[in-house]
Amino acid sequence: MPVGIDDLAIYIPKLYVDYKDFAKARGIDPQKLEYGIGIRKMALVDTNQDPACMAANACLKLMERNHLHPKDIGRMYVATESGLDESKAMNSFVVGMLEQVYGEDAFEHAGGIECKFACVSGSYAIYDNANWIRADENNGKAAIVIVSDIAKYDIGSAGEYTQGAGAIAILVKDNPRLLSFDQKVTSTIIKNEYDFYRPIGKETPLVNGNYSNLLYLIQVRKAFDGYKEKAIKTGLISLKDGESITDHIDYFSVHLPYRKMGEKALAYLLRHEWRSLPRWRQVIRELGMEEPLPKDPRGTIESILADVEFMKTDDKFRRAFMQTSFYNEVYEKKMASSLEASAIIGNLYTASMYMGFRSLLEFEYKKGVELEGKRVGFGSYGSGSSAMVFSGRIQPGYKEVVKKMNLEDEIGTRTKLSMEEYEKLHEGRTLALNESILHNSREFVLTKVGGITADKAGFREYVYAN
Ligand code: HMG
Repeated sequence: MPVGIDDLAIYIPKLYVDYKDFAKARGIDPQKLEYGIGIRKMALVDTNQDPACMAANACLKLMERNHLHPKDIGRMYVATESGLDESKAMNSFVVGMLEQVYGEDAFEHAGGIECKFACVSGSYAIYDNANWIRADENNGKAAIVIVSDIAKYDIGSAGEYTQGAGAIAILVKDNPRLLSFDQKVTSTIIKNEYDFYRPIGKETPLVNGNYSNLLYLIQVRKAFDGYKEKAIKTGLISLKDGESITDHIDYFSVHLPYRKMGEKALAYLLRHEWRSLPRWRQVIRELGMEEPLPKDPRGTIESILADVEFMKTDDKFRRAFMQTSFYNEVYEKKMASSLEASAIIGNLYTASMYMGFRSLLEFEYKKGVELEGKRVGFGSYGSGSSAMVFSGRIQPGYKEVVKKMNLEDEIGTRTKLSMEEYEKLHEGRTLALNESILHNSREFVLTKVGGITADKAGFREYVYAN
């Protein structure tokens, strides 16, 4: 029985900062942001929005669009790293909001939890729910996994231009219209790391930027090795002489903290997979330089980063490789469409890769490419750190869903903030919930945090604004 993604609905807050204003204010070359990072607009939440109401807005959209009643849903998971409470799960807030629309106790029959492992937890949540359906525990019902986050970094830090905010609600069911997961090939890796983390009570993360970039590449590659082993063992993919597993994957959708990271992840993966194949000699010929090796190829990430000479030559090699016809053919055909959305939204943490998948579907469809049967390989990464690699095939019913996709329309009319307004919002100087910049209708907003008495301190109240 095919199980996978039937539909996904997005909610992106309508405030944003433009990269040109940002670059001017921080004294950065705008070309660095547009091409070096790959960002043009960064989505930001208003004073009366939080990850829970974004999640509820995405979920309501998904349910209304698919004429789903709460009785059709057996599980609702929220994966996030922007938790609101140490104990009370974010999906309980979401249920509370949705019950304002569907009636009290409408979801009482269902279940679900909040999941956390930085950006990768949404993938674990989807995997677990797909298996809940495969195990026939679902009593004919579907699962909704919502990925919702606010990526917020310190003002003036290098992470500041990789901010973003938004939520995606993903409908996981049998006989899905969009994508059916390949079975028995999902591969994971986990290691205790401090590349990016946010201690309790701290609003912005502590980041080891260059370390996090390299760790992401290594962990996804290691999980990909596990995927490859399983794909060959189960017969999902069989390799002929000179072939690479990347030849058998039609699209790559990877975690996107920023657009350029996707491009770099593809380069890293292709180098790893092609190095031992006859085609690599042709690549080297086109490049006109040999691939450099670190002083200690078995060294740690720290020792590789400290090998300044190697890092310099490797950067030069990687940049040159990304200019070759070999890389560009794969990039244009298998990845470029998945990166479109990231450039106008920013990092969505748990939702980033799924926004990339949605972007891939919409923009490939608009190019007129026939997608049925195409295999998508996913590289999900979460700092801390864990990676998950899996794949799925686009299903015959995909057109029914994809033909209606329109990113700009679904985001809606957006309001550009001046840098002054942005900084005020960032620092919480406009904290009052009723002082929101926008007055959006037909969506959930946060109206109150805490009660008059101490026992109501953590209460959060939301309304559906008409
Ligand atoms: P940075 O200091 O801006 O890096 O930090 P940079 O100086 O190396 O510049 C970035 C790129 O811009 C380089 O290109 C420059 O050459 C280029 P590359 O070498 O990559 O090809 N550049 C220019 N291009 C055109 N014109 C110019 C110009 N100048 C420079 N004039 C960094 C970048 C990503 C490290 C920083 O923004 C950061 O710390 N971000 C937050 C952490 C992050 O996103 N890490 C990514 C991997 S970890 C991850 O994805 C997990 C995460 O999502 C969290 C989670 O799991 O929950 C973060």
